[in-house]
Amino acid sequence: MDKKLTLSKPEHVASNGLLDRRYFLKSSAAYLTAGSSMLMGSISHAQRSYPDYMTLPGAPLSGYGHRSVNEDHVQRYISLTRGTTGAGNSRTPLEKLHGIITPNGLHFERHHSGIPDINPDNHQLLIHGLVERPLVFSMENLMKYPMVSRFQYIECSGNSRPNLASEASDLTCGEIHGMISCCEWTGIPLSTLLAETGINPNAKWVLAEGADAAEMGRSIPIEKALDDTLIAIFQNGEAIRPENGYPLRILLPGYEGNISVKWLQRIKLSDVPLMTRDETSKYTDLQKNGTSEMFTLEMGVKSVIVSPSGKQQLGPHGIYEIRGLAWSGAGTITRVEVSADGGASWTDTLLTEPVMRKSLTQFRIPWEWNGQPAILMSRSYDDQGNRQPTRSEFIQNSGLQVNYHNNMIQSWQVNSEGQVQNVYV
Ligand code: CO
Repeated sequence: MDKKLTLSKPEHVASNGLLDRRYFLKSSAAYLTAGSSMLMGSISHAQRSYPDYMTLPGAPLSGYGHRSVNEDHVQRYISLTRGTTGAGNSRTPLEKLHGIITPNGLHFERHHSGIPDINPDNHQLLIHGLVERPLVFSMENLMKYPMVSRFQYIECSGNSRPNLASEASDLTCGEIHGMISCCEWTGIPLSTLLAETGINPNAKWVLAEGADAAEMGRSIPIEKALDDTLIAIFQNGEAIRPENGYPLRILLPGYEGNISVKWLQRIKLSDVPLMTRDETSKYTDLQKNGTSEMFTLEMGVKSVIVSPSGKQQLGPHGIYEIRGLAWSGAGTITRVEVSADGGASWTDTLLTEPVMRKSLTQFRIPWEWNGQPAILMSRSYDDQGNRQPTRSEFIQNSGLQVNYHNNMIQSWQVNSEGQVQNVYV
């Protein structure tokens, strides 16, 4: 390998190869071992042969663009519920993406009875119950209201469930943690529509119901409904994809994904929660004493290293960039630390702007790998004073039977051959 670039001597800030998080920024130029470039200069420009795409006209224009066929391997991980055709989930391949925005075609899915085929011309949203004026909105009506745009993540409360098993499975980052995605969502604040219907002072809960074959329904506290809840119609600038709720969904930033009901058709204000199937038989958290907690809605503070991560293979020894994603349902990420020695020593990473509330935040730090075995971990903090728990802290508080809200620290083991594997620490 040809190391042409002269970098300042890397300053080690924690054990096992972690470098100053600003190392790349301080160097006038930098390249990573993982991305070392080929030697140039042996072929002169005049002698080069031209590929067909430089000698013949290229493809025509198109009304709707598609990614390169060479990128077709970047796919969601699909897991179908046995015996069904449309129930199950597909997970975002986090380790194959860069940045904080999930492309619409790779946003995770969780369906309870498949994706309904809805014609927006026939779709209506009913708001009734403890309101002063029950109203029905057509999509055409809704499009006349002022809209807002926000960058928010959605995380399924069952995300990271594979790590609640007693033995660590050899899986990729996306297979374990890919039930989180982040988009720019555009729509109407629910408070705007509730100002139209008026609110009976006895209203304490809001039912949101979908138009799918499972008629997914969840109860929302009225305070959240009037806070940052959105009736979302657009996802990353275009109409929401069918698998994400076309033509509209409710969106509750920072709350467990299941409550952001897709294909929204009905909102009912009530004095009590509606105790729907989807918040009683599922989405309750079984405790160690055998009772279940209900309405555990806010998602915890969490982070995960996406590279290097499970089932990846490092190349030659040298400098790599550790990068990952952090988020919190309570607010804004303030700090992410990483460890390369299984949690014995930690150091701060660099957070990449923009750092936004209830959105994904990127973190990164250079790491010098000289073939020594390592265990890479990240832990995040938010502006509400929360810190991501270790595996043992999580088990102590919630147990492994809990099934939901797993935000424990992820550990990736790198062996001397450079193979990366999910492990428990
Ligand atoms: Co919950």
